[in-house]
Formats: sequence, C-alpha cells, structure tokens
Amino acid sequence: MTSLELRKFVAPELLFGVGARHLAGRYARNFGTKKVLLVTDPGVRKTGLVDGICDDLQVAGIEYEIYSSVRPNPRVENVMQGAEIFSQEGCTALIAVGGGSVIDCAKGIGIVSSENRPITEFEGVDRITLPPPPLICIPTTSGSSADVSQFAIISDPARKVKIAIISKALVPDVALIDPETLLTLPPDLTAYTGLDVLTHAIEAYVSNASSPLTDLHALEAIRLISRYLAPAVRSPGDLQLRAETMLASLHAGLAFSNASLGAVHAMAHSLGGFLDLPHGQCNALLLDRVTEYNYASAPGRYDDIGEAMGLLVDTMAAGERCTAICREIRRFRTSLGVTETLGSLGVTAGAVCELADHAMKDACMATNPRNPTRQEIERLYESAL
Ligand SMILES: [Fe+2]
Repeated sequence: MTSLELRKFVAPELLFGVGARHLAGRYARNFGTKKVLLVTDPGVRKTGLVDGICDDLQVAGIEYEIYSSVRPNPRVENVMQGAEIFSQEGCTALIAVGGGSVIDCAKGIGIVSSENRPITEFEGVDRITLPPPPLICIPTTSGSSADVSQFAIISDPARKVKIAIISKALVPDVALIDPETLLTLPPDLTAYTGLDVLTHAIEAYVSNASSPLTDLHALEAIRLISRYLAPAVRSPGDLQLRAETMLASLHAGLAFSNASLGAVHAMAHSLGGFLDLPHGQCNALLLDRVTEYNYASAPGRYDDIGEAMGLLVDTMAAGERCTAICREIRRFRTSLGVTETLGSLGVTAGAVCELADHAMKDACMATNPRNPTRQEIERLYESAL
C-alpha cells in the first residue's frame, strides 16, 4: 500500500514492565467497579499468579469472583457460563489473567453480559452494538497478544468450527503486561506461543491491510522474536530474555490487530475448531508452506522478513530467496524442538476437504496477499501432513 491509503490504528492503554500486574486493583477502582469477575484457567491458577492479584484487589477494596474453568480453545459454553456468573454475582468489570484462551473467553463474557444474546451471534466483523464492561488484561504468555487486539476466537463444538469475532469494542481497556508472569511458562508453550508471535508479525507484514504504522511493529516483532525466543526457551528463568519475547509479542499484537492476518491463521483456526489442536503449534507447522505459496505475490515484503530474521537476502539471487526464507523458518522452528507434522498430530488426508472448507470461510483469509482456491488450500494442508 502507499501511505495515502486510509488506515485505522487502535490500541488499548498499555503498561509494560515488571510489576505491571499489581496495578489491576487500582485500575479496577478507577473504572468505578465494586466487584469484578476474574477469568483464568486451572494451569495459571496453579502458578500462584491469581492469588497475588486477588491480594491486590483486596487492598484496593474491590470484591471479586473467580471463573477458572476456561479450557484451551475456549468454547461457547465457557463464555455462556462465565456470563451467567458475571450477572448472578453482580460484577461490573472483568479481569483476565492468562493466555489467549482466557483473554478471548473474557472478551466473550463481556459481549454476552451487555448484549444478552448467545456469543455465536457475533461472528464476523463489527457485529457488537453495545459497549462491553471494562476489561483489564494480564497476559501470561508471550504469544496471543489478545490483550491488545480487537479479535476474539471462540470454538463452537456444535459446528466443529472456531468463530472469529472482530470489533474495536474488543480492544481491552488496559493491558498490564508484566514479563514476570512468563517465568512459570513451560518451554514447549514458550516455543509454540513464540512461533505464534512470528506468524502474527509475518502475516501482518504481508497483509493487504498493512500500513506504515503496522509495518514498524511487525518488523520489530520479527527481529526480537528471531533473536530472543530460542535463548528464552533455553533459559526460562532469565527475566531479561522473557521481557524481550513479551515485547515481541506486544509489537506483533499491535501489528496484526490493525493489519489482520492471513492464510496461516485461517488454516490454523480451522484445525483448532475441527480437531481441537493447539493454536501456536498449528501455525508453526503451516508457516513455511504458506510462505512458499504466498512469496510470488509479495516478494519484496518476504525479503524484508528474511532480513529481519537475520538472513542476508540482498546478497542472494532473486530465484534463491524464497527457498532460503522458507528454510530459515523451518530451521527456526526445529531449533525450538517443534518437529511434528500435522499427520503426527492426528490430521488425516480424509479431513483435508472439510478443513479447507472452514479455512476458506475464515475472516483472516480476506487479507492474505494471494487469493487461494479451495484446491490450493487442500494442497497446502496435504503438504504439511
Ligand atoms: Fe495467533
């Protein structure tokens, strides 16, 4: 695009740094709430992070109720249960403490609480009409960036699909981004969520809806995650390394929330909805395949991505660049121990037709730099089996 085209950029109020999470009570009070629903999941609860935040809420004089039954790939029923508790308990604001699943579920609870209709009715872009209650996010992974994005992805098991809800109303009111929350994130989740960051940044950079502002964030995210993810996986207790991956996630989130995503996410959402597979892992296993497919539609953009990953793309012949960039993406993934294939995760050739069907309908496909046919998406899935 040229800088003359009209583009919008939205972001929540952000606090980044060690101790940011302890401001949740103060922010809840600033929003004028007396009682909050704290949304989390069993894994995060075990880390003790939630207890610390509850202490802060008590000090601030804020009552709270906890909803901690959110599962990975959060479901319609999680959202509806949470919304019921929210209204029964007289809550007026939400605090989400967790990864993308928890934050997306909290966003869904907010929508249902104000609109009083099933969450499935809000699939697509700009379907929310009433402002949801205030939402404070404390991310505990450096990956989803749901704490800054205008996206919520909810699984609908009845239809075996993930629905994407996209609206400015879903941008949280404040994101308290605290690298200390990552110290308990296990190595495999650090790798998967970090590869999600790389995918967000790459897809935002080649998106049809990118802008000079999202480009800045996307390239910085690619530089940071390429440099710091592997060391952070090796040294999980190093707070400085954790902070770099958290910053990479923030940059990628600001980029993709405003530029949207592409075929990798459309295909990963389909896998997550149909087979309940982990999001970051799905992206990681598709990224090199889609890059190879997309390259000719945005060669200059992919060359910039290669440079940001540390390749000397400028010194390569034009015909060698795509192969080198795809090889680097694969090398990066395998260096993190992500060596599976979709087939080894249980995806069969028989499922490809239906997977492609759902991927073609996903909202993220609209901004992919190349407009694929259904058959091409099927072939991409097959190549990753
Ligand atoms: Fe993602």
